[in-house]
Amino acid sequence: MSERTPPLRISVVGCGYLGAVHAASMAELGHEVVGVDTDAEKVEFLAAGRVPFFEPGFSDLLRRALDSGRLTFTTDIAAATGAAVHFLCVGTPQRRGEYAADLTYVEAATSSLLDVLGPGELLVGKSTVPVGTAARLAERVAERVPGAALAWNPEFLREGYAVQDTLHPDRLVYGVPALSGLDGTVDAEALLDRVYATIVAEGTPKVVTDYATAEMVKTAANSFLATKISFINAMAELCEATGADVKQLADAIGHDDRIGRKFLNAGLGFGGGCLPKDIRAFMARAGELGADQALTFLREVDNINMRRRIRMVELARQVCDGSLLGKRIAVLGAAFKPDSDDIRDSPALNVAAQLQLQGADVRVTDPAAGDNVRKHWGQLDFVASPEEAAENADVVLLLTEWRQYRELDPATFGKVVRTRRVLDGRNALDREAWEAAGWAYRALGRRNA
Ligand code: UGA
Repeated sequence: MSERTPPLRISVVGCGYLGAVHAASMAELGHEVVGVDTDAEKVEFLAAGRVPFFEPGFSDLLRRALDSGRLTFTTDIAAATGAAVHFLCVGTPQRRGEYAADLTYVEAATSSLLDVLGPGELLVGKSTVPVGTAARLAERVAERVPGAALAWNPEFLREGYAVQDTLHPDRLVYGVPALSGLDGTVDAEALLDRVYATIVAEGTPKVVTDYATAEMVKTAANSFLATKISFINAMAELCEATGADVKQLADAIGHDDRIGRKFLNAGLGFGGGCLPKDIRAFMARAGELGADQALTFLREVDNINMRRRIRMVELARQVCDGSLLGKRIAVLGAAFKPDSDDIRDSPALNVAAQLQLQGADVRVTDPAAGDNVRKHWGQLDFVASPEEAAENADVVLLLTEWRQYRELDPATFGKVVRTRRVLDGRNALDREAWEAAGWAYRALGRRNA
């Protein structure tokens, strides 16, 4: 932090994935930060420097921040009193039985923050919310604490890269009130620039806009990413019907830099705690606004995505001579993507469960998600290593492309299975090497050998 930008006192309310990483990152940038969460166990964990989830690099960052004395955690919202900036980082899950987002935590956290917010202070929303939420919360702020202000500053971090994405984001988006900084009101942009001084100084692109645009940037970005994945998976369906090869197709269209190769990996599709629920909440909000037609394509994006899971089960049945009953199946990967222990809406577990329900003897393994699988999917047989999962297997399914699995030696690994058959659900294995080691290789959207 430069000498001209003195550190700020910051509170971060909600210390889940987003909040914990944000709080430690803000301390890393030199600020004095208090993280507040209602979950006493989580607070105790974080305060002791223990990380309640898997995230490369986060443990070191947290430890450094705690050792610096600039980061503390508490369950007591009163500790946020007097902070210049208060970040709202609570979750917005999908409502049970509906597409819409559940704003219970946003409402509750805002209510408790309003008890401590002071004039001249800035409340900053980072959670992913339906467009219109910020304007509504700003009214509550104005009524309760005249002289305070609200800004919306969406977060674009990816699990597995959370530290890097928070400290070096590819853009900053500030949704600020119309007259921000005028007539003695809080200058939200100037205050956020002080928070992110180091990041701004790196020349990070910044978009300063209204609340609605800022909220929509986030849902539009995730919708675009989901659409890109479903686009290539729709092409995979066609490749399966025509004998074409989706990987080569993606490489070829990806060379056009208007299209780009990133997020064109065909396979089992997207899962996790963000993309699926965000596109659904976006559709629900569009419906409320009378603009549902604009987003009907997202329903198809969702459908294509879910169809990949069914197709994977069908492919497994097909290679198991038409019946899954009693077949021993190894599932490599349980997390929704590599470098994460997050199993929310995990395509891998969805497939594993379907196979098991259809009579297969399924063994699942994952380098990081074991505890979560045992806790939430007790009916699945979880084992520690790929070799254990694959012992006497009739077929091996790669469903989350962890490096450890991509780097398996097909010849050695082939010794533990009953039949050398592999289904590459992520198009991530070196096909030639596996085939050379005598494996029958199949993948979604790929030509058969
Ligand atoms: C996503 C966005 O990428 C972040 O920018 C955003 O901040 C975050 O959601 C959020 O809203 O909080 P994340 O859920 O961590 O991040 O995961 P991604 O890396 O986007 O992957 C999502 C899913 O798409 C995974 O299941 C992954 O396996 C799948 N995927 C990704 C594909 O199937 N193909 C691809 O080419 C890329």
